[in-house]
Amino acid sequence: MKSDLQKGIFFIAAGIIGLFLISYLYGMNRGFGMMGRMGMMNRMGSGMMGGGMMQGQEKTDFSSNGERIFFRGVNSKGAIIKNTHGMQGVGCAMCHGADARGMRMMMEAPDIRWRTLINPEGHVHSSGRRHPAYTEESFKTCVLAGIDPAGNQFSTMMPRWEMSKEDLEDLINYLKTK
Ligand code: HEC
Repeated sequence: MKSDLQKGIFFIAAGIIGLFLISYLYGMNRGFGMMGRMGMMNRMGSGMMGGGMMQGQEKTDFSSNGERIFFRGVNSKGAIIKNTHGMQGVGCAMCHGADARGMRMMMEAPDIRWRTLINPEGHVHSSGRRHPAYTEESFKTCVLAGIDPAGNQFSTMMPRWEMSKEDLEDLINYLKTK
C-alpha cells in the first residue's frame, strides 16, 4: 500500500519534470521560453483575426479625414462616428482589412477599394448576394442604411453608420487611393 503510494508520487513527479523539460526545450526552439511561446500565440491570434485589427490599431498618424475614419471610426474633429454595433475607436479596417481588400471572419467582409466597388460587372458575393456597380450615391446608402445597389439588405454583421455627407465624401476619396 505504502509503496504503491510512493510509486504514484514518483510517477507524478517524473511527469511534471518531464513536462518542464519539454516546455524548456520547446521554448529554446522558439527563442525565449514562455515569452517565445506567447509570441507564437500572438501570431496565431493575429492570423485568425486576419491581422487587420492589429494592423489598423497600431496606426497613429493619419494623412486625411477619410483615412482616420477608415481606421478609427473617428473624424478629424474628434467626433466618434456612431454605428449600430456601438463600437468606438474602430473603423472599417477592423473588418475590411487595413488594405481595404476585405477579409473573411464569420462571414465575408468584401473588398471595398473604390476600384472594386465600381467594377462595371458588379459582384456576386459568397453569401449569394449580387448587385451592380456602386456609385457615390449608392455607396452612401450602403454605409448609412446597409443596402446595396440592388436593394439587398446587408447582414447585421455590417454596422450602419451615422456619418455626415462630408465625412462620407472624405471616406470615398480615401478608398479611391487604395
Ligand atoms: C464589424 C465588421 C464590419 C465593419 C467594422 C465594417 N463593415 Fe462593411 N461589411 C461587413 C460585412 C460582414 C459586410 C457584408 C454584408 C453582407 O454581405 O450582408 C460588409 C459590407 C460592406 C460593403 C458592401 C460591399 C459590396 O461589395 O457589396 C461596403 C461598401 C462596406 N461594408 C463598407 C464599410 C465601410 C465604409 C465601413 C467603415 C465605415 C465598414 N464597412 C465597416 C462588415 C463590416
